[in-house]
Amino acid sequence: MIEIPVELGAHRYPILVGRGLAPVLPDLFDWLRDRRMVVVSSPRVWTRHGDRLGWARRAATRAEPILVPDGERHKTRATLAAIHDRFVDAGLRRDGVVIAVGGGVIGDVAGFAAATYMRGVSWVVVPTTLLSMVDSAIGGKVGINHPKAKNMIGAIHQPRAVVSDPAFLDTLPLREVRGGAYEILKCGILGDRSLFRAMQEAPAGLLGWRSTEVGSAIASASRIKAEIVAKDEHEEGLRRVLNLGHTLGHALEAVTHYRRFTHGEAVGWGLLGAAAIARGRGLLKDTAFEAVVSAVEHIGPRPLLSDLSSAEILDAVSRDKKARAGKVPFILPFGIGRVVIRDDVTTAEVRRALRAMAAHEARSR
Ligand SMILES: NC(=O)c1ccc[n+]([C@@H]2O[C@H](COP(=O)([O-])OP(=O)(O)OC[C@H]3O[C@@H](n4cnc5c(N)ncnc54)[C@H](O)[C@@H]3O)[C@@H](O)[C@H]2O)c1
Ligand SMILES: [Zn+2]
Repeated sequence: MIEIPVELGAHRYPILVGRGLAPVLPDLFDWLRDRRMVVVSSPRVWTRHGDRLGWARRAATRAEPILVPDGERHKTRATLAAIHDRFVDAGLRRDGVVIAVGGGVIGDVAGFAAATYMRGVSWVVVPTTLLSMVDSAIGGKVGINHPKAKNMIGAIHQPRAVVSDPAFLDTLPLREVRGGAYEILKCGILGDRSLFRAMQEAPAGLLGWRSTEVGSAIASASRIKAEIVAKDEHEEGLRRVLNLGHTLGHALEAVTHYRRFTHGEAVGWGLLGAAAIARGRGLLKDTAFEAVVSAVEHIGPRPLLSDLSSAEILDAVSRDKKARAGKVPFILPFGIGRVVIRDDVTTAEVRRALRAMAAHEARSR
């Protein structure tokens, strides 16, 4: 088991990474003993893994796990309300503990339910997708979508612990695994050369990626995010570096109406784009640029993008929600393991990056 602290003063908590941790969760923390636990999960996750989590049905809970549908379109007020109703039915009190077992959607909505129920009850997050292990479970951002905008309603409510058990990944579709892997690669590029190398050395397409190696990649990426969150809990500055690859990534998701790419795949393309802009500015040497390109490629194929309109992509970039005073910040790598934030990237530079991405696509076909 690897333990990574999230140093948030009074809210300090551990991230535990290790195969086989989820089945023994109640034994991991003294403070959980004698506390009433209520599990929130999804039917898809529970049918695959509920049997391993016998504690979830035992005396302490008395109630069956609360199962709500996951997937982005269920990250809604309706799902939140259903969870609150079940908390009331279960008699959950202020000293109870919510355990969220699922991907980023379950974590975000169950965490927000915990943040708002009785003005906040403790919660533990057990992420079951690679993306949620290295990203959404860490940092305390919880919330739901508004019908008109993603993640519009939410809070910061730190969990008491994160328990990342790679055994969940045994049932995760390969495309979802790769999606999380692009986020791990992002962490390597922005702050950890040895993690970057580990991703280069993982099996091509991540076929047969060994559990111990996955575990150590999860731990390294978690450490990067935990350190950044500890320095900037409310996303006032430093935390923005986690958006490496996301400015273009979000634009690709938006112009394809969130249907073509998984979030991670769009970030994979976005990493390539950010690296191309950085190379164009002379921040990134050709060798480092090529290393980023081949590392992205190594993780696996992504849906194509060369048929998309660059005008639409540029338009989506300019509407980026992180824009301030009309300036869209780009996180640019200047070597492997270091990034800078720049808000003076021009339309011409983005256009050139899009051309480089499309050219790369042609080469790799
Ligand atoms: N809070 C944050 O800081 C933060 C950060 C990044 C992303 N997010 C959010 O996370 C969400 C995306 O998370 P996600 O990619 O985990 O999506 P998700 O929760 O929708 O899960 C993806 C799919 O995988 C299935 N699944 C989950 N675990 C499984 C398993 N072990 N085996 C088989 N199938 C499994 C789910 O049922 C779902 O169909 C988005 O809503 C995003 O906004 C939040
Ligand atoms: Zn992301």
